[in-house]
Amino acid sequence: MPIRPLQASDNAAYTTLWINALTEHEKHFRVALEDDAHPQIPTQFSAESFTLGAFAGDNLVGTLSFVRETRFKTKHKALLMRMYVHPSAAGQGIGKALIQATISLARNLIGLRQLYLTVLASNQRAIRLYTSSGFSPFAQEPESVNIQGQYIDELQMVCFLSKCPP
Ligand SMILES: CC(C)(COP(=O)(O)OP(=O)(O)OC[C@H]1O[C@@H](n2cnc3c(N)ncnc32)[C@H](O)[C@@H]1OP(=O)(O)O)[C@@H](O)C(=O)NCCC(=O)NCCS
Repeated sequence: MPIRPLQASDNAAYTTLWINALTEHEKHFRVALEDDAHPQIPTQFSAESFTLGAFAGDNLVGTLSFVRETRFKTKHKALLMRMYVHPSAAGQGIGKALIQATISLARNLIGLRQLYLTVLASNQRAIRLYTSSGFSPFAQEPESVNIQGQYIDELQMVCFLSKCPP
């Protein structure tokens, strides 16, 4: 399954995939379609801020975004966000491949030491994916997100590049 950084020309495909993600998997995301009805690729097109896409033929079926912190004292850290694999392509290793490709690009960045992400504590499938990719939980925010009146905890997870699997 080819994986490559998305370009501005991929925006329309990204918008379609993300509307599907937020509509069909609302309970797994801290962001909502109500926040942004026309979601665009959320990153810059650079080595320190990018979104990878996984393709089945010409179709974008998976994405993961990476943003390195820019502040002087925190630029040893980067955020992974907006992980999604369309159900038609799930369970084939694409989620894991997106994380591994992101870690591989992250290793090129001088001074970067750790990747962090958040995941809803109810999302056992994603937690398993992140754990098997080298992430460990370090905090849990109680009642972080309100989805249709249900308050859900959010896990914060980190992967130190020196300890992440190759
Ligand atoms: C979670 C998600 C990204 C996984 O993507 P995927 O491509 O299906 O995952 P993979 O096939 O790479 O599987 C990786 C790991 O996920 C877990 N996993 C995969 N399918 C699973 C299933 N049916 N049940 C439980 N865990 C499963 C496993 O730990 C697996 O590792 P293993 O094969 O070594 O056991 C995808 O299902 C998804 O987009 N879900 C909805 C949105 C979402 O939850 N996004 C994350 C927000 S933080």
